[in-house]
Amino acid sequence: MSNAVTTQGLNRLLADTTVLYEKLHAFHWYVSGPQFFVLHEKFEELYNRFAAISDDLAERILTVSGKPVATLREVLDLADIAEYDGATAAQDMVATLVRDLDQLLEKSARVIESAESAGDRGTVNLLDGFRDEWQKTRWMLNAWQSA
Ligand SMILES: [Fe+2]
Repeated sequence: MSNAVTTQGLNRLLADTTVLYEKLHAFHWYVSGPQFFVLHEKFEELYNRFAAISDDLAERILTVSGKPVATLREVLDLADIAEYDGATAAQDMVATLVRDLDQLLEKSARVIESAESAGDRGTVNLLDGFRDEWQKTRWMLNAWQSA
């Protein structure tokens, strides 16, 4: 059903979504300026989504007999997405998020390829859904940036 490459790929995605969950909290807390209320709320919506996505990724890994990363140390070892860097400007936060979503889209495309070659439809379906959502969020953040 699955293979080690796919499971490792799912774990790397999980590490990234876990970092992003935490980073979105920092954005929610530290955003400042005239866009505060809009972004404070948007970042909350997004960290709630990333909490659910991380849980779905971890449970998919368990379903295919893998072991999801479960400590922050392991998460930071495995993640490519960078932690919160102290930004307070809304523009910087949104630009960072667009880049992070690009990373997730690129990485998840590779995991889909390995899942497809292993005949792992469950993983393909799960990631396809997340990708639709990440693409839509990226479009919205880009629209906000060009306002
Ligand atoms: Fe809050």
